[in-house]
Amino acid sequence: MTLIAPSLLSADFANLAAAVASLETGGADWIHLDVMDGHFVPNLTIGPPVIAALKNFAHLPLDTHLMIEDPDRWVDVYRQAGADGITVHAEACRHLHRTIHHIKELGARAGVALNPATPVAAIEEILPDVDLVLVLTVSPGFGAQPFIPSTLAKIRTVYDRLRAVRSQALIEVDGGIDDRTAVYAVQAGAGVLVSGHYVFSASSVKDAVRTLRERAEEGERRRATGEIPRMA
Ligand code: DX5
Ligand code: ZN
Repeated sequence: MTLIAPSLLSADFANLAAAVASLETGGADWIHLDVMDGHFVPNLTIGPPVIAALKNFAHLPLDTHLMIEDPDRWVDVYRQAGADGITVHAEACRHLHRTIHHIKELGARAGVALNPATPVAAIEEILPDVDLVLVLTVSPGFGAQPFIPSTLAKIRTVYDRLRAVRSQALIEVDGGIDDRTAVYAVQAGAGVLVSGHYVFSASSVKDAVRTLRERAEEGERRRATGEIPRMA
């Protein structure tokens, strides 16, 4: 079953508690938290104090996407704040093998993220060690951007490489996911869908999550046929 991980980036930052509550009652599986430092990406969002505050009442796993420079300095702080999943960018890590294993030693789900222009080859050697690969399907930093169609082939490459090393790691697809792109992303190999704008711009979070789940099931059916996803 494909997991639905709405991103708070498009929620009302003046009322994150209500946003989390709407995801918990709306049937989401994870809460995706986009941490941005204004250096790795041209935007600045939330940090450890906000995550610690959310952790006090959130029941869903907190899936933190660290779009920050020098994540090694911060991984322990985010784990202590309550992060259940910690995903670092391959482009920001000088010693990715050490970083991934440190995240696992802290007891968190260890993820590695790739920007759209970064090839899968950049993480080839670490694939057997990670719990999750985040494929960014937009350039990071902002919500409500259009899905980049060429990333579908990249998702499928990650899917094939993970199967080749017999990894059970999840593929998280992040950026521009809505009721149309969700099918293609899952058909290509996504096991977790991140969606911000589509979920929080909908009249009902619950309906948006349910629609994404239904579209993901269609993608799973298409993947089972072996059909290669092609976006119209
Ligand atoms: C972009 C973030 C994504 C983004 C997804 O830098 O990593 O998680 O918030 O939002 P939408 O679904 O609006 O593209
Ligand atoms: Zn993200």
